[in-house]
Amino acid sequence: MRALIVDPDAKGGLRLAEAPEPEVRADQALVSVQHLALNFGDLNGARARPAGFVPGWDASGVVLQAAANGQGPAVGARVVTTMGTQGGWAERRAVDLDELAVVPDDIDLGEAATLPVAGVTALRALRRSGALIGRRVLITSAAGGVGRFAVQLAALAGAHVIASVGSTARGAGLAELGADEVLVGLEGVSAPLHVVLDNVGGPQLVAVWALLGEGGLVQCIGGTSQQEASFRSLVGMQRSLNAFTKGPRSGEDISYLMRLMQSGQLRVEVGWRGSWTRIAEASEALFGRQVAGKAVLDVD
Ligand SMILES: NC(=O)c1ccc[n+]([C@@H]2O[C@H](COP(=O)([O-])OP(=O)(O)OC[C@H]3O[C@@H](n4cnc5c(N)ncnc54)[C@H](OP(=O)(O)O)[C@@H]3O)[C@@H](O)[C@H]2O)c1
Repeated sequence: MRALIVDPDAKGGLRLAEAPEPEVRADQALVSVQHLALNFGDLNGARARPAGFVPGWDASGVVLQAAANGQGPAVGARVVTTMGTQGGWAERRAVDLDELAVVPDDIDLGEAATLPVAGVTALRALRRSGALIGRRVLITSAAGGVGRFAVQLAALAGAHVIASVGSTARGAGLAELGADEVLVGLEGVSAPLHVVLDNVGGPQLVAVWALLGEGGLVQCIGGTSQQEASFRSLVGMQRSLNAFTKGPRSGEDISYLMRLMQSGQLRVEVGWRGSWTRIAEASEALFGRQVAGKAVLDVD
């Protein structure tokens, strides 16, 4: 079968090539992949993998072979999947039943592929931050994949949402998604903040810490700045930094996000879409901070 494999000599570090068929356990479904979605961490992590490795957390398609244990969706079901035993950027993938969700007919399969990592991360980071109604919530890297879902979900939960982006242009469309304030960096962000979903790290994270109010919490989700954060002291009033990780068993939460899409409460923003043969172009756009939301590739 064809797959996107790691090749350090290829532009962007990935190319389409032949790869071994996945091995399918009795508690897994085999899925024919039709669409895949890129994540910053997935692409970044692929750079450290050996040649020939098949990456890919998020992919959607159709069940080719139901799980041999009799559980899960039947052959032909439209599904979105994540974190299989093998990467999802391949024509076929074996996936655990609790890492997939059946996609309703009125949801585009390509859009569904964007939900597992970015959508579930935003959902779980907010959920683990306690009640948000009336709280001042800052979301950094708000124009990206996690960020656009987080802005919408925080607004839905009743928060006052402050969206922070890298440039004025990157703020486009965020107010329409529910941001009460759209700001560049931390310019104009006023204290106290109750919850911060931080995707940037580095010196900006240190500056965010100083804006937290009593009992405030920073969910450290990502470090796209790739810079170190150096704190002289963390003592003072009660505040927390949490090393966030999404964790497994995403199926149920993906289904919840799709119900929000069906009721018009959650929009999937696809800022780049094209054939998987254009992986180098898509990857360049993502790392170049050009993608508004998610990049989706079609397996053709
Ligand atoms: N802990 C977890 O479980 C978990 C789960 C999912 C994602 N993550 C992490 O969360 C982060 C965001 O992921 P994503 O999928 O949303 O990424 P994404 O869609 O690629 O968005 C990344 C955003 O990061 C900002 N950015 C990029 N380079 C930057 C730099 N040098 N300095 C400051 N900002 C920069 C950009 O903001 P502007 O466009 O505004 O410039 C961009 O919109 C990544 O670090 C990812 O690895 C962690």
